[in-house]
Amino acid sequence: MQKVCYDDSSLKSLISPDVYTSFADQLEAVETMLNKKTGPGNDFLGWLELPEEHSPSFLDSIQKQADDARQQCDVFICVGIGGSYLGAKAAIEFLSSTFPQQRTPEVLFAGHHVNSDYLKDLLSHIEGKRVIVNVISKSGTTTEPGITFRVLRKWMEDAYGQEEAARRIIATTDPEKGALRKLAERNGYRTFDIPDNVGGRFSVLTPVGLLPIAVAGIDIKELVSGAREAMKYCSGTDLTTNIAARYGVNRNCLLREGKTIEMLAAFQPQFTFVNEWWKQLFGESEGKDRTGIFPASVVYTTDLHSMGQWMQEGLRTIFETFLRVDETRETVEVPHFEDNEDNLGYLVGKSFEYVNEKAYEGTLKAHRDGGVPAATITVADRSADSLGQLFYFFEKTCAYSAYLLRVNPFNQPGVEAYKKNMFAFLGKPGFEDFE
Ligand code: PA5
Repeated sequence: MQKVCYDDSSLKSLISPDVYTSFADQLEAVETMLNKKTGPGNDFLGWLELPEEHSPSFLDSIQKQADDARQQCDVFICVGIGGSYLGAKAAIEFLSSTFPQQRTPEVLFAGHHVNSDYLKDLLSHIEGKRVIVNVISKSGTTTEPGITFRVLRKWMEDAYGQEEAARRIIATTDPEKGALRKLAERNGYRTFDIPDNVGGRFSVLTPVGLLPIAVAGIDIKELVSGAREAMKYCSGTDLTTNIAARYGVNRNCLLREGKTIEMLAAFQPQFTFVNEWWKQLFGESEGKDRTGIFPASVVYTTDLHSMGQWMQEGLRTIFETFLRVDETRETVEVPHFEDNEDNLGYLVGKSFEYVNEKAYEGTLKAHRDGGVPAATITVADRSADSLGQLFYFFEKTCAYSAYLLRVNPFNQPGVEAYKKNMFAFLGKPGFEDFE
């Protein structure tokens, strides 16, 4: 059942049906490029069919490792950055209980920045606990997770001795190449493969995301079957059914209207890291060749009290995509008090969801009146099925949107620039000339 809806009815005044007709040829060409794998970056299109290609036995093997890990550790640390971290973090934050203390085992993240204070706090947090480390890097050479893994590997070897540490380290990396693959082979770590044809930010449904997500107790078969469901409605050139293509076309039209920033505005705090994952997906895929919409995000109603002012009255180069859940897991109602000193008596018996819904309706109207074009993505619930659909929907939208912009969504040449300078400043052999 389709659990992701995209409502762009309030864009009608800006984007007419004629505009959609004018996109027909381009969309047809993009659809062919994706299906026949003839577009730029076509060797990184493995994510397109992943949900159908994962066999039950493959998912069982991940689940088995996750079940073992759940027995053997109190803390499962994922070491990775960018696409090797954000998908799992997004899924776990969206689908788990709110407070880390309510989660067992704890799935924690490291190697996504360079910060001694964070690492020291992590090391003191894991003292005396049973730990498993999952080091995740497709290239196997990324600096942040690389140096972080050195610290954790040392901690593990000191705590457990080399042999037991090796049993407690899992490497997720390229099937053949890279320093991490070599290190894993030399030390006898268990390994999971990242398919060659799937890039980092599209890898949440590979072992990169699936293992930590399963360790967090989330049903990965349901997540993958959700993505499989989305494959059905996120394909074809019919813009009334293919909501990914429609969202991609709308982004393109809005950019042509001078809307260079997209604000993904979630109305549930559990979306915070889905927002972060989305920003990486669209930012790294589209922001090149001096084009691309700048992806920004907020979580309402929290940020209505900070960014709300800018959204209402700032520069009109922005459009907004609301992201909401139809059904929360719980319902809390506003309680009654005789005194009514706070004048909130008119809300007695109303649920927080009702109040949130009215806040959404009020914001949509206010921002539209303030000149911000807006559309809304609604996800049925906080289930793995819904999230699997949402992940795939966003990935497919990103491919349509970038190809319509004529950029290669699957490379990230710009990321290398800072690295070359950093390596030169750090004195890495071979980078002397970049200083
Ligand atoms: O999307 C991407 O390719 C990047 O964000 C990578 O995921 C990120 O740079 C980490 O790379 P790696 O997994 O090689 O360590």
